[in-house]
Amino acid sequence: MKSVIIYSSRSGNTEKLARVIYEALDGEKEIYAITEVPPLDDHYDLVFAGFPVMAGRVEPRAARFLSEFDKKADFFLFATHGSFRDSELVRTVMARAADLIKSAAVTGVFTCQGEVSSKVLKKLGKSNRPPAWLDEGEKAGGHPDKEDLEELAAMVRTLFHVP
Ligand SMILES: Cc1cc2nc3c(=O)[nH]c(=O)nc-3n(C[C@H](O)[C@H](O)[C@H](O)COP(=O)(O)O)c2cc1C
Repeated sequence: MKSVIIYSSRSGNTEKLARVIYEALDGEKEIYAITEVPPLDDHYDLVFAGFPVMAGRVEPRAARFLSEFDKKADFFLFATHGSFRDSELVRTVMARAADLIKSAAVTGVFTCQGEVSSKVLKKLGKSNRPPAWLDEGEKAGGHPDKEDLEELAAMVRTLFHVP
């Protein structure tokens, strides 16, 4: 099985998920930050793509990667966000991410909260129109935590039959 993990991460939360996926996988595997993706091989069995939710959307560099991907492969999408996991916003963004991929099917999705810095929380709180997710973002401290990461590793091992 040949896998590639591509992640965009501004403050390191989504990168933590990417590294856990890398460790959990068996077989041939590559991992790249979205800013350093080399020309990709023609064949991967699995593509893992991760991003933070930004301003109610898929982070733009990740969105571009998803929409330009034109090879056959199964996708696993992962994301971090300030909002709660089961929020409508997160469901909508992940559905949008899956829609962006033209050439491939999505076989798995994992998301969890990711800590938002106090500086960002303060700035957003003072703005004229604070985002609806702000209260939930204030409760994201410490995420992704040990439990989030263990859940992700177990999911990847189960889905892709890693002993
Ligand atoms: C400028 C900015 C915009 C954000 N917009 C959203 C948002 O719309 N919804 C949300 O749930 N979280 C939002 N967040 C929170 C991030 O998605 C969250 O902290 C994420 O874990 C950051 O991931 P990273 O460390 O991999 O960059 C925003 C954060 C920043 C800094």
